[in-house]
Amino acid sequence: MAGEEQQKHRKQGKIIAVCSAKGGIGKTLLSVNLSVALSKKNLDVTIVDGDFQFGDVCLAMDLQPTFTMKDVMDEVDGLNEYTIMNYVTRHSSSVQVLAAPERPELADLITSDGIVKGLETLVLSNDYVVVDTGSGIQGHSLEILEKADEILVITNLEMTALKNTKLILETFRQIGMGEKVQLIVNRYNMESLMKAEDIPSMLGAENPMYIPNNFKLASQSMNLGIPLVISQAKSDVSKAIFKMAEQIISKRIVKEDGKKRKKSFIHKILPTH
Ligand SMILES: Nc1ncnc2c1ncn2[C@@H]1O[C@H](COP(=O)(O)OP(=O)(O)O)[C@@H](O)[C@H]1O
Ligand SMILES: [Mg+2]
Repeated sequence: MAGEEQQKHRKQGKIIAVCSAKGGIGKTLLSVNLSVALSKKNLDVTIVDGDFQFGDVCLAMDLQPTFTMKDVMDEVDGLNEYTIMNYVTRHSSSVQVLAAPERPELADLITSDGIVKGLETLVLSNDYVVVDTGSGIQGHSLEILEKADEILVITNLEMTALKNTKLILETFRQIGMGEKVQLIVNRYNMESLMKAEDIPSMLGAENPMYIPNNFKLASQSMNLGIPLVISQAKSDVSKAIFKMAEQIISKRIVKEDGKKRKKSFIHKILPTH
Protein backbone atom coordinates (compact mmCIF):
# COMPACT_ATOMS: atom_id res chain seq x y z
CA MET A 1 0.00 0.00 0.00
CA ALA A 2 1.32 3.44 -0.85
CA GLY A 3 2.30 5.62 2.09
CA GLU A 4 -0.61 8.00 1.64
CA GLU A 5 -3.13 5.16 1.32
CA GLN A 6 -1.71 3.63 4.47
CA GLN A 7 -2.19 6.86 6.40
CA LYS A 8 -5.80 7.08 5.24
CA HIS A 9 -6.66 3.71 6.72
CA ARG A 10 -5.04 4.46 10.04
CA LYS A 11 -7.15 5.06 13.09
CA GLN A 12 -6.21 6.81 16.26
CA GLY A 13 -7.84 4.51 18.77
CA LYS A 14 -8.07 5.12 22.49
CA ILE A 15 -6.38 3.03 25.14
CA ILE A 16 -8.59 2.06 28.07
CA ALA A 17 -6.67 0.51 30.97
CA VAL A 18 -8.59 -1.46 33.59
CA CYS A 19 -6.88 -1.58 36.97
CA SER A 20 -7.58 -2.39 40.60
CA ALA A 21 -5.79 -2.26 43.92
CA LYS A 22 -5.93 -6.01 44.36
CA GLY A 23 -6.84 -9.16 42.45
CA GLY A 24 -10.21 -10.87 42.38
CA ILE A 25 -12.22 -7.66 42.00
CA GLY A 26 -13.46 -8.13 38.43
CA LYS A 27 -10.84 -6.58 36.11
CA THR A 28 -10.89 -9.47 33.68
CA LEU A 29 -14.67 -9.76 33.68
CA LEU A 30 -14.95 -6.04 32.97
CA SER A 31 -12.17 -5.93 30.33
CA VAL A 32 -13.60 -8.84 28.38
CA ASN A 33 -17.25 -7.85 28.54
CA LEU A 34 -16.62 -4.16 27.90
CA SER A 35 -14.51 -5.05 24.85
CA VAL A 36 -17.23 -7.29 23.43
CA ALA A 37 -19.88 -4.63 24.20
CA LEU A 38 -17.81 -2.03 22.31
CA SER A 39 -17.29 -4.40 19.39
CA LYS A 40 -21.07 -4.91 19.19
CA LYS A 41 -21.24 -1.20 18.31
CA ASN A 42 -19.32 -2.09 15.18
CA LEU A 43 -16.04 -0.81 16.59
CA ASP A 44 -12.64 -2.44 16.20
CA VAL A 45 -11.40 -3.56 19.59
CA THR A 46 -8.30 -5.39 20.79
CA ILE A 47 -7.80 -6.59 24.36
CA VAL A 48 -4.24 -6.71 25.61
CA ASP A 49 -3.80 -9.10 28.51
CA GLY A 50 -1.53 -6.94 30.62
CA ASP A 51 -1.46 -9.38 33.52
CA PHE A 52 1.74 -10.77 32.06
CA GLN A 53 2.24 -13.44 34.74
CA PHE A 54 -1.22 -14.78 35.37
CA GLY A 55 -3.33 -13.39 32.57
CA ASP A 56 -6.63 -15.11 32.07
CA VAL A 57 -8.32 -13.17 29.30
CA CYS A 58 -7.99 -16.20 27.00
CA LEU A 59 -9.57 -18.42 29.63
CA ALA A 60 -12.47 -16.00 29.98
CA MET A 61 -12.97 -16.11 26.17
CA ASP A 62 -12.16 -19.76 25.60
CA LEU A 63 -9.27 -18.97 23.25
CA GLN A 64 -6.09 -20.92 22.60
CA PRO A 65 -3.58 -18.36 21.39
CA THR A 66 -0.72 -19.39 19.11
CA PHE A 67 1.26 -16.25 19.89
CA THR A 68 1.50 -14.02 22.93
CA MET A 69 3.01 -10.73 24.06
CA LYS A 70 6.29 -12.58 24.51
CA ASP A 71 6.48 -13.21 20.74
CA VAL A 72 5.77 -9.53 20.09
CA MET A 73 8.91 -8.75 22.11
CA ASP A 74 11.00 -10.78 19.65
CA GLU A 75 9.68 -8.65 16.78
CA VAL A 76 9.58 -5.18 18.28
CA ASP A 77 11.83 -3.60 15.65
CA GLY A 78 9.68 -4.77 12.75
CA LEU A 79 6.37 -4.06 14.43
CA ASN A 80 3.70 -2.16 12.51
CA GLU A 81 -0.10 -2.28 12.25
CA TYR A 82 0.12 -5.17 9.78
CA THR A 83 2.78 -7.35 11.42
CA ILE A 84 1.14 -7.09 14.84
CA MET A 85 -1.91 -8.86 13.41
CA ASN A 86 0.20 -12.04 13.28
CA TYR A 87 0.28 -12.11 17.06
CA VAL A 88 -3.34 -11.52 17.98
CA THR A 89 -6.05 -14.15 18.35
CA ARG A 90 -9.50 -13.45 16.98
CA HIS A 91 -12.58 -14.17 19.07
CA SER A 92 -15.93 -14.99 17.44
CA SER A 93 -17.23 -11.58 18.59
CA SER A 94 -14.54 -10.01 16.34
CA VAL A 95 -12.60 -8.77 19.37
CA GLN A 96 -8.88 -9.47 18.94
CA VAL A 97 -6.77 -10.57 21.88
CA LEU A 98 -3.08 -10.04 22.45
CA ALA A 99 -2.56 -12.82 24.97
CA ALA A 100 -0.29 -12.92 28.01
CA PRO A 101 2.65 -15.37 27.90
CA GLU A 102 1.67 -18.96 28.65
CA ARG A 103 3.97 -19.28 31.65
CA PRO A 104 4.62 -16.81 34.51
CA GLU A 105 8.43 -16.88 34.15
CA LEU A 106 8.11 -15.60 30.57
CA ALA A 107 6.71 -12.33 31.93
CA ASP A 108 10.33 -11.34 32.65
CA LEU A 109 10.92 -11.11 28.90
CA ILE A 110 8.34 -8.35 28.48
CA THR A 111 10.02 -4.96 28.21
CA SER A 112 8.70 -1.44 28.71
CA ASP A 113 9.74 -0.42 25.19
CA GLY A 114 7.98 -3.46 23.78
CA ILE A 115 4.73 -2.71 25.59
CA VAL A 116 4.74 0.92 24.51
CA LYS A 117 5.48 -0.01 20.89
CA GLY A 118 2.78 -2.70 20.99
CA LEU A 119 0.15 -0.27 22.28
CA GLU A 120 1.18 2.51 19.89
CA THR A 121 0.89 0.05 17.02
CA LEU A 122 -2.47 -1.38 18.07
CA VAL A 123 -4.18 2.01 18.28
CA LEU A 124 -3.45 2.53 14.57
CA SER A 125 -5.91 -0.19 13.61
CA ASN A 126 -8.42 -0.14 16.48
CA ASP A 127 -11.08 2.18 17.84
CA TYR A 128 -10.31 0.89 21.33
CA VAL A 129 -7.43 -1.01 22.88
CA VAL A 130 -8.55 -2.34 26.26
CA VAL A 131 -5.80 -3.43 28.64
CA ASP A 132 -6.53 -5.78 31.53
CA THR A 133 -3.62 -4.83 33.81
CA GLY A 134 -2.02 -6.82 36.62
CA SER A 135 -3.09 -5.82 40.14
CA GLY A 136 -1.75 -2.62 41.64
CA ILE A 137 0.06 0.24 39.94
CA GLN A 138 3.66 -0.89 39.96
CA GLY A 139 6.05 -1.95 37.20
CA HIS A 140 4.60 -2.46 33.75
CA SER A 141 1.08 -1.67 34.96
CA LEU A 142 2.15 1.90 35.72
CA GLU A 143 3.65 2.27 32.25
CA ILE A 144 0.42 1.07 30.69
CA LEU A 145 -1.63 3.40 32.90
CA GLU A 146 0.56 6.35 31.88
CA LYS A 147 0.00 5.51 28.24
CA ALA A 148 -3.76 5.07 28.65
CA ASP A 149 -6.30 7.68 27.54
CA GLU A 150 -8.76 6.45 30.12
CA ILE A 151 -8.24 4.45 33.32
CA LEU A 152 -11.05 2.40 34.77
CA VAL A 153 -10.33 1.78 38.46
CA ILE A 154 -12.51 -1.06 39.66
CA THR A 155 -13.38 -1.74 43.30
CA ASN A 156 -16.00 -3.61 45.26
CA LEU A 157 -17.41 -2.81 48.70
CA GLU A 158 -14.93 -4.85 50.77
CA MET A 159 -12.97 -2.74 53.25
CA THR A 160 -9.56 -3.86 51.97
CA ALA A 161 -10.52 -3.03 48.41
CA LEU A 162 -11.91 0.37 49.41
CA LYS A 163 -8.90 1.32 51.53
CA ASN A 164 -6.46 0.49 48.74
CA THR A 165 -8.64 1.98 46.00
CA LYS A 166 -8.61 5.25 47.94
CA LEU A 167 -4.80 5.12 47.96
CA ILE A 168 -4.65 4.38 44.25
CA LEU A 169 -7.01 7.25 43.42
CA GLU A 170 -4.95 9.62 45.59
CA THR A 171 -1.79 8.49 43.83
CA PHE A 172 -3.32 9.12 40.40
CA ARG A 173 -4.28 12.64 41.46
CA GLN A 174 -0.79 13.30 42.87
CA ILE A 175 0.93 12.23 39.68
CA GLY A 176 -1.41 14.29 37.54
CA MET A 177 -3.42 11.41 36.10
CA GLY A 178 -6.65 12.04 38.05
CA GLU A 179 -8.37 13.53 35.00
CA LYS A 180 -8.42 10.29 33.10
CA VAL A 181 -9.71 8.11 35.93
CA GLN A 182 -13.22 6.66 36.04
CA LEU A 183 -14.23 4.71 39.16
CA ILE A 184 -16.25 1.50 38.70
CA VAL A 185 -18.01 -0.04 41.68
CA ASN A 186 -18.41 -3.74 40.99
CA ARG A 187 -20.97 -5.85 42.85
CA TYR A 188 -22.36 -2.60 44.25
CA ASN A 189 -25.38 -4.34 45.76
CA MET A 190 -23.39 -7.11 47.46
CA GLU A 191 -23.90 -7.62 51.16
CA SER A 192 -21.55 -5.27 52.92
CA LEU A 193 -21.25 -2.85 55.82
CA MET A 194 -20.47 -0.19 53.25
CA LYS A 195 -23.24 1.17 51.11
CA ALA A 196 -22.69 2.01 47.45
CA GLU A 197 -24.05 5.53 47.94
CA ASP A 198 -21.27 6.29 50.46
CA ILE A 199 -18.53 5.47 47.97
CA PRO A 200 -18.26 8.80 46.10
CA SER A 201 -17.65 10.80 49.27
CA MET A 202 -15.51 8.12 50.85
CA LEU A 203 -13.21 7.87 47.84
CA GLY A 204 -13.55 11.44 46.63
CA ALA A 205 -14.70 10.18 43.24
CA GLU A 206 -17.67 11.72 41.49
CA ASN A 207 -20.04 9.78 39.24
CA PRO A 208 -18.84 6.21 39.61
CA MET A 209 -20.29 3.63 37.25
CA TYR A 210 -21.90 0.58 38.85
CA ILE A 211 -22.00 -3.13 38.04
CA PRO A 212 -24.46 -5.31 39.98
CA ASN A 213 -23.62 -8.44 41.91
CA ASN A 214 -24.43 -11.70 40.17
CA PHE A 215 -22.05 -14.35 41.36
CA LYS A 216 -23.79 -17.27 39.69
CA LEU A 217 -23.74 -15.75 36.21
CA ALA A 218 -20.26 -14.26 36.62
CA SER A 219 -18.63 -17.51 37.65
CA GLN A 220 -20.61 -19.54 35.13
CA SER A 221 -19.44 -17.28 32.31
CA MET A 222 -15.82 -17.45 33.49
CA ASN A 223 -15.99 -21.25 33.71
CA LEU A 224 -17.54 -21.63 30.27
CA GLY A 225 -15.32 -19.00 28.69
CA ILE A 226 -18.28 -17.16 27.19
CA PRO A 227 -18.54 -13.44 27.97
CA LEU A 228 -21.78 -12.53 29.74
CA VAL A 229 -22.70 -9.88 27.20
CA ILE A 230 -22.93 -12.73 24.68
CA SER A 231 -24.46 -15.58 26.67
CA GLN A 232 -26.62 -13.47 29.02
CA ALA A 233 -27.04 -10.24 27.12
CA LYS A 234 -30.21 -9.33 29.01
CA SER A 235 -28.79 -9.94 32.49
CA ASP A 236 -28.35 -7.07 34.96
CA VAL A 237 -24.55 -7.29 34.69
CA SER A 238 -24.63 -7.18 30.87
CA LYS A 239 -27.03 -4.23 30.86
CA ALA A 240 -24.67 -2.30 33.13
CA ILE A 241 -21.73 -3.07 30.86
CA PHE A 242 -23.58 -2.09 27.66
CA LYS A 243 -24.52 1.18 29.35
CA MET A 244 -20.89 1.72 30.31
CA ALA A 245 -19.79 1.13 26.71
CA GLU A 246 -22.28 3.75 25.57
CA GLN A 247 -21.08 6.23 28.16
CA ILE A 248 -17.48 5.68 27.13
CA ILE A 249 -18.35 6.24 23.48
CA SER A 250 -20.45 9.34 24.11
CA LYS A 251 -17.82 10.87 26.40
CA ARG A 252 -15.39 10.49 23.53
CA ILE A 253 -17.76 12.11 21.07
CA VAL A 254 -18.24 15.07 23.43
CA LYS A 255 -14.46 15.39 23.86
CA GLU A 256 -13.82 15.24 20.16
CA ASP A 257 -16.70 17.54 19.33
CA GLY A 258 -14.71 20.71 19.86
CA LYS A 259 -11.76 19.26 18.01
CA LYS A 260 -11.66 17.95 14.50
CA ARG A 261 -13.91 14.85 14.49
CA LYS A 262 -12.40 11.59 13.47
CA LYS A 263 -14.64 10.49 10.64
CA SER A 264 -13.76 6.81 10.74
CA PHE A 265 -14.88 6.57 14.35
CA ILE A 266 -17.90 8.85 14.33
CA HIS A 267 -19.32 7.39 11.12
CA LYS A 268 -19.45 3.96 12.59
CA ILE A 269 -21.51 4.79 15.62
CA LEU A 270 -23.81 7.53 14.43
CA PRO A 271 -26.75 6.35 12.34
CA THR A 272 -26.34 7.24 8.67
CA HIS A 273 -29.39 8.20 6.68
N1 LIG B 1 -20.41 -8.37 39.08
C1 LIG B 1 -20.03 -9.52 39.62
N2 LIG B 1 -20.87 -10.26 40.36
C2 LIG B 1 -20.48 -11.41 40.93
N3 LIG B 1 -19.25 -11.93 40.80
C3 LIG B 1 -18.35 -11.26 40.07
C4 LIG B 1 -18.69 -10.03 39.45
N4 LIG B 1 -17.59 -9.58 38.79
C5 LIG B 1 -16.62 -10.49 38.99
N5 LIG B 1 -17.07 -11.50 39.76
C6 LIG B 1 -16.33 -12.70 40.18
O1 LIG B 1 -15.17 -12.29 40.88
C7 LIG B 1 -14.09 -13.15 40.59
C8 LIG B 1 -12.90 -12.35 40.12
O2 LIG B 1 -13.17 -11.77 38.85
P1 LIG B 1 -12.01 -11.45 37.84
O3 LIG B 1 -12.60 -10.69 36.72
O4 LIG B 1 -11.25 -12.68 37.52
O5 LIG B 1 -11.11 -10.48 38.76
P2 LIG B 1 -9.65 -9.90 38.55
O6 LIG B 1 -9.34 -9.96 37.10
O7 LIG B 1 -9.73 -8.51 39.08
O8 LIG B 1 -8.73 -10.75 39.38
C9 LIG B 1 -14.57 -14.16 39.56
O9 LIG B 1 -14.91 -15.36 40.22
C10 LIG B 1 -15.81 -13.50 38.99
O10 LIG B 1 -16.74 -14.46 38.55
MG1 LIG C 1 -7.77 -11.01 36.10
